[in-house]
Amino acid sequence: MKFLPELFDNNRQWAARQLADDPSYFGRLAGIQRPDYLWIGCSDSRVPANTIVGLAPGEVFVQRNVSNIVHADDNNCMSVIQYAVDVLQVSHIIVCGHYHCGGVLAATGPALAEPLESWLSPIRCLCRDHAQTLSGIASDDERWDRLCEINVRAQVSTLTGLPILRSAWARGQSLTVHGWIYDIKDGLLRDLDVCTSTA
Ligand code: CO
Repeated sequence: MKFLPELFDNNRQWAARQLADDPSYFGRLAGIQRPDYLWIGCSDSRVPANTIVGLAPGEVFVQRNVSNIVHADDNNCMSVIQYAVDVLQVSHIIVCGHYHCGGVLAATGPALAEPLESWLSPIRCLCRDHAQTLSGIASDDERWDRLCEINVRAQVSTLTGLPILRSAWARGQSLTVHGWIYDIKDGLLRDLDVCTSTA
């Protein structure tokens, strides 16, 4: 007996629909991967990268982790960025956070068990660095959302300082880093205006 049969049923129906729309669909995708975008987003189940920007399989390379954090010492994230920049040569890297991010909120509360506490430590630092701005916001929800935005900006800043990106820009590669935030309540993206396309 198969486990999770409903998911296999969904999969068969999805594959059949794709083929009905375009008989060469899988053959073409299997031939080559050439996405133009690297998406670095939160693991949150409500923020599926391809879906919210209307991109099909093959069009976006994806790294998702808790609270869309770029740790320079995280081999997982660094390998994704290296492959995207050096091999796939994507033109755009999008760091996309979202309002009401559970990881961001957790980083404002009591210490968590490892490894989550270490993972979220950059956000605890951001809370301290931006304590004055944050304490001036009366509404808990608005303070939380502001911290989500601050986090995206910080990750864009980390990203643009990485040797992988510096080298790509030094050799003249066209590459732009974007910082966006997604609102789960209305399904809309906002550009945080931190676009960077040079070292
Ligand atoms: Co999140």
